[in-house]
Amino acid sequence: MKGIIVYGSQYGTTKQYAKELSKQTGLPIENEQNLVTIDHYDFVVYLGGLYAGGLKGFKNFQKKIHSNIKLMIGTVGLADVTDEKNIQNIRQSLKHQIPQSLWHSITIYHLRGGIDYSKLNLKHKTMMSLLYKMLKKKSRENMSAEDLAMIETYHKQVNFVDFEMLKPIIKDIKNMIKEDL
Ligand SMILES: Cc1cc2nc3c(=O)[nH]c(=O)nc-3n(C[C@H](O)[C@H](O)[C@H](O)COP(=O)(O)O)c2cc1C
Repeated sequence: MKGIIVYGSQYGTTKQYAKELSKQTGLPIENEQNLVTIDHYDFVVYLGGLYAGGLKGFKNFQKKIHSNIKLMIGTVGLADVTDEKNIQNIRQSLKHQIPQSLWHSITIYHLRGGIDYSKLNLKHKTMMSLLYKMLKKKSRENMSAEDLAMIETYHKQVNFVDFEMLKPIIKDIKNMIKEDL
């Protein structure tokens, strides 16, 4: 089984995970923006930053998927992914983005990234400011853990990158490569 790691990252946290994963598994790594084809691979680990519930770069990447590919998807977001409710929310959003025909061949993993508001581009700053204003109108009881995390980290620099979270992905990759021997 031949695999590759592809990542979609705007501010670098997903790229950090992708590079570490490549280091620990020996798989090649490619930014989705530079990816030409995955035709020579049996499986792809796609790591993408979450932006308004969507996986960065996946729309573009999807066009390159062939029918026999095994997909492993890792989301990288701010929400605490030890919280089952947050995971459910992320998966619900992914359902709108990933075609149903692919679901049977996908394994999904969740990683936590970070944010530095001073580095955000204008579009993202505006989006976060609108979201913040919207959330502030909610009563505390109606806020999800995701909402609270967003409010608590607003305008700050936070980094939850933890390579330990890669362990389940590494285990599955190693098992898949082993199956082939
Ligand atoms: C405009 C914007 C929207 C975001 N939307 C989400 C989201 O829906 N869920 C989430 O968990 N994190 C969200 N985040 C946080 C990012 O997913 C997080 O910063 C991630 O680490 C970014 O990955 P990158 O550094 O590889 O670009 C958002 C961040 C920005 C700036």
